[in-house]
Formats: sequence, C-alpha cells, structure tokens
Amino acid sequence: MSSTIIPARAKAVIFDAYGTLFDVHSAVARHMAEIGPDAARFSEVWRSKQLEYSWVLSLAGRYETFWVLTTKALDYAFARFPDVDPSIRPLLLEAYRSLDAYPEVRETLRALRKKGRQTGILSNGDPGMLNAAVESAGLADDLDAILSVDAAQVFKTSPSTYELVLRALSVTADEVVFVSSNRWDIAGAAALGLTPVWVNRLGLPDEYLELAPSAVIGSVSELA
Ligand code: LAC
Repeated sequence: MSSTIIPARAKAVIFDAYGTLFDVHSAVARHMAEIGPDAARFSEVWRSKQLEYSWVLSLAGRYETFWVLTTKALDYAFARFPDVDPSIRPLLLEAYRSLDAYPEVRETLRALRKKGRQTGILSNGDPGMLNAAVESAGLADDLDAILSVDAAQVFKTSPSTYELVLRALSVTADEVVFVSSNRWDIAGAAALGLTPVWVNRLGLPDEYLELAPSAVIGSVSELA
C-alpha cells in the first residue's frame, strides 16, 4: 500500500520518541501490581509533570536534561500518591530507559527506508536516555539519525529544536515529515513549516487549530 500521507518531496520522516515510538505508560504497566489502584493516574501525573517542567524551564530560559526532569516528575508523582511504595522508584526509572516500542514501529521504519526516505528521531530526551530506549527496542539499525534537543539546550516547541533536523540532515523544512502523537508537538512543527502528521491513537479532540497537522493517522503503520 503506498502512502499519500508522505508527499513526494519528502526526504526524511522524523519521529517524536516518547508517546509516539515508545509507550510512556509501559514503565508503570510493568509494575502495576506494586503501584496498586492508582497506577493509571500515577502514570498520567508522571508524564504530565515531565512535560510541564520542560515548558516552564524553556519559558524561563533555563535547561536541565529531560532525564533530570523525568526523575523530578516521578518524585512529584510519589508525593501526590503517598500510598504508592517509594521503594519501586529505581525500578520505574530503569523501566523508563527501556520502554516498549509500539509493535508496528520497526516495520514502518523499514518500509520508509526501503522507499528511500531517511528516518530519525527528534526528542526532548537526552542522548543517553534516547540511545538506551532505541537499543533496548532494537531499533538502532532502522534509524538514520537520533537527534536530541540537548544540542539546542531548550525543549520543544522552541523552533530551534525542530531546526536541528534541518541542519543534521541538510534538508529544508518542506522536505521533512514530522510525526508525533503529541498534539502540542505537531503545533510546534507546523509553526516551522515541517509537514506534521499527528498520530491520534486515542481519538483525542483536535486543538491548536491554527497550527494544524497535514494528516491525522491512528497508527504509525499508516505511513508505510
Ligand atoms: C519527546 C517527548 C516530548 O520525545 O515525548 O520529545
């Protein structure tokens, strides 16, 4: 099946990592029994605080690595849910470094490369955590570039983060398809003129209407 989602001019298909290629809730899912009945809410708070910290620091002109923010957000989640046993903290952090990739990811990356597209990641994750996630998911051979906002010392949606792709791959904005499950990330990519494809696995309502995706898909396999 050939995709009409990727324009003929596209030279690279770049993916957000957390939530798009990797299931951020798989860390908590592996320790559901130890966490107890608040597991789903605990995982949501962990993720939403991690993102909030990235935006607040960026607006304040500050930077700490995404790994540091991930640990601080986890500590906040423990504080919010005092019934959750804090002794599982190291297990959750270890799990976050080896999150499950969505099952359709590898085949999709391979199909895109067969069609002559470069594939890559642009993520808030710092290089250490990104490389660990890519290695443990066995995706290293299927990606041409693993780019971290760490090189820009600011988080998405700063334009300087999406610009890292243009510099690293020597491409223009209209030659890049940017794929993310995070609607705010799609808005950032749209603002810079990339071709943004929103992976809306959960059927969430649209937002940031002035910064719209060029396509909405239910699974990354629709790109192949
Ligand atoms: C990332 C986060 C935002 O991978 O999900 O950039």
